[in-house]
Amino acid sequence: MRYCERYKSHHDASRKLKRRFAAGTDKAEYLAGLLNGPADRPRVVYLHVPFCNKVCGFCPFHRPDSFSRREYDKYLIGGIRELAAYEYSRAPVNAVNFGGGTPTALSPAQMARVLAELHNSFDIPPGTEISVETSVTELTDEMLSALKEGGVNRLSVGVQTFDDASRRLLNRRGSGAAAAERIRRAISFGFVNTGIDLIYNYPDQTPELLERDIDTIKSLNLAGVSFYSLMLHEGTPLYKRLTQTEKAVMADLERERGFFFQILDGLSAAGFKVFELTKLIRDGLDRYDYMRVRHGGGSCLAVGSGAGGNIGNYVYSNSPGAENIGADIKISSRGRVVSDDYMIIDEFINELQKTAVDLSAYSRRLKLDLNALLGSALGEMADGGLVQIGRSGVRLTRDGLFFGNNIIDELVGLIINVV
Ligand SMILES: C[S@@+](CC[C@H](N)C(=O)[O-])C[C@H]1O[C@@H](n2cnc3c(N)ncnc32)[C@H](O)[C@@H]1O
Ligand code: SF4
Repeated sequence: MRYCERYKSHHDASRKLKRRFAAGTDKAEYLAGLLNGPADRPRVVYLHVPFCNKVCGFCPFHRPDSFSRREYDKYLIGGIRELAAYEYSRAPVNAVNFGGGTPTALSPAQMARVLAELHNSFDIPPGTEISVETSVTELTDEMLSALKEGGVNRLSVGVQTFDDASRRLLNRRGSGAAAAERIRRAISFGFVNTGIDLIYNYPDQTPELLERDIDTIKSLNLAGVSFYSLMLHEGTPLYKRLTQTEKAVMADLERERGFFFQILDGLSAAGFKVFELTKLIRDGLDRYDYMRVRHGGGSCLAVGSGAGGNIGNYVYSNSPGAENIGADIKISSRGRVVSDDYMIIDEFINELQKTAVDLSAYSRRLKLDLNALLGSALGEMADGGLVQIGRSGVRLTRDGLFFGNNIIDELVGLIINVV
């Protein structure tokens, strides 16, 4: 087998890229030039809420900091106003996304105030995707009303599993039946574009348990399903709790592969299509503009503690405690100006995440002959049944989908060696 360890996340696929490509340009000068002029590309707004009401045993994303939750809406509103003041922010934005943590850990009234300020400060045309990550327990009728009023039209609900015993293992609140009920309620409220996150390959999972989750999903009329193979992160309560035997069960690639294709095949039969390596969508219901623009050459204006984004080629993070670049440029100084090649390779990664890429187009953009550079590796991958090589580029096969992040990592490694 070409890969004996499977990379499970898009972070693995872009790890090599992240280490390289500082352009050596002065941040303040670069940003002053960009922010004080009209937008040069599509832009999305990302708002980060670093709180959760209960920390899940497996999760590495929960990094609380010193903010008071009760004051956090004011903090976000301040951040929105600062960013919206630049000429760069004036043209209509292409998508808005609230992530976390759990954005709905804020109260409905706080969410309503933040959404009102977004509409006040930015030009958000009707129909623009406004997306909120949430978990079922915070999705009360009051919260659904506040989100609807504020123009939210896409929900991404962290469910992980509908099985009660498995929910307890993962430290998720509430029963699976209650989760399904809240999702039905959200959809009947008008949130047609509702998707869920599912975790698979946890120690006690069986094909029968997964089949029941798939059946529940089929009954829910969802727009999309993101499915993640459980990653064990050192330091998390789950990591500490599992025995060596349970960890070994999880490391069995054949078992993981069985679950992967059970989800893919089960949901394909119900009309879902592959949108990207870890996401299936039903036709026309979820465009996921936020991801498309953010990793398709756009800018991502980051608001909130812990938010990451990019303004043109300035890739930055609002890390807790980070200072602004200056009084005129109220953008976190924790970032770097990356080269154009970095941005192009980021797009390349994103396209392959969506399972196919046009090598000629990227050869032109990177001023490289990618067919020659990648030819030998791609030939071997094709022989191993992982990719198909056609006139218009490369497409992952069914087996290639399972190892998609490994394939991307390998190809990107070859590209960054020469640019
Ligand atoms: C950043 S979390 C935010 C979602 C929301 N807070 C919730 O949990 O309801 C996004 C998703 O990442 C996935 N995730 C988190 N930790 C994971 C892990 N250790 N392994 C695999 N997937 C994980 C979960 O499916 C989760 O819903
Ligand atoms: S999975 Fe979601 S709710 Fe759970 S700790 Fe992580 S961010 Fe919070």
